[in-house]
Amino acid sequence: MSARSTVFAPVPLSIQPVVIAGAGVIGLSIALELTRRGIGVTVLERGRALTQASVAAAGMLASEDPHNPAALRAISKYSIGLYPEYKARLEALSGLPVPVQTTVTVQYLEDGSAMQLAEESLDPRQLAAALLGAVRAAGIDLREGFSGSIREELRGRTLVISAGAWSSESGGNSRVAVAPRKGQMLRVTLPPALRSLREVHRSEHIYVVPRVHGPQAGTALLGATVERAGFDTTTNTADLARLRAMAAELLPALASETNAPLVESWAGLRPGTPDDLPVLGCGDDATLWATGHYRNGILLAPATAMTVADMIEGNVPAVDLAAFAPGRFVR
Ligand code: GLY
Repeated sequence: MSARSTVFAPVPLSIQPVVIAGAGVIGLSIALELTRRGIGVTVLERGRALTQASVAAAGMLASEDPHNPAALRAISKYSIGLYPEYKARLEALSGLPVPVQTTVTVQYLEDGSAMQLAEESLDPRQLAAALLGAVRAAGIDLREGFSGSIREELRGRTLVISAGAWSSESGGNSRVAVAPRKGQMLRVTLPPALRSLREVHRSEHIYVVPRVHGPQAGTALLGATVERAGFDTTTNTADLARLRAMAAELLPALASETNAPLVESWAGLRPGTPDDLPVLGCGDDATLWATGHYRNGILLAPATAMTVADMIEGNVPAVDLAAFAPGRFVR
């Protein structure tokens, strides 16, 4: 698994300090893994860390979702295998818990049947708090509100672009087709009939994700829209009502706004790509891309961190990255 190789980089990236553009769950997970391997890291973030798609997500580790592209299967399974150690490390470094919220997903299929999947979910806000705590405990150089030129900041160091929906604008010489794919979502208090809901219920176009532990316990997320709306993050009542109605097709007790009152609603910007697959690998200018995770950023964070760290060390990653090559749609 660890044969030396430079096939992933036109020049050996060498074990030199790295600059990461973007402090979402992907960028900070990479930073933590590089730090664990003794590689110096600076993370540049134009806004605030972990405030975009990373905390808008529902937190399903949906490695078994039959609607995921088949090309995601191997890296999803790899990431699931890494999750216990990844999570334990965040918890140990930060002192903050990231409890598994659910362990079963009921997946509804087009033919009207349903199957049970052994999938876990997490609360991404708990994950984000622990990840940020871990990054701080590890002493990682994280610069929020960065307004300068990433290229000028590099000074010969390797650049990793993990700027989510903003990745196409984040300083590579080459540009990769990543664009925002908006998702609106609402969170409701679980009605009495569903107080003991312990599993995710999901069909192709809607999911209900209960929170069991932590500050959101006793509520459930109903999501999500998939929209091409640029960088707009507004929500609208018609879309939220439609999500509730679709959720109520799976669990009728969610239909009542009285019994299942709205707690909050929001919209996030998934980093989408033309083929719904991540961009993970070396670009034509030795820039490393780790973006475009679309609906699976939380799931794929540990695998992405290991893979990027392996590439930087010159090792062959544990999974085949051919389907994720940045060059497949350079424009
Ligand atoms: N990961 C769930 C979604 O993208 O809506």
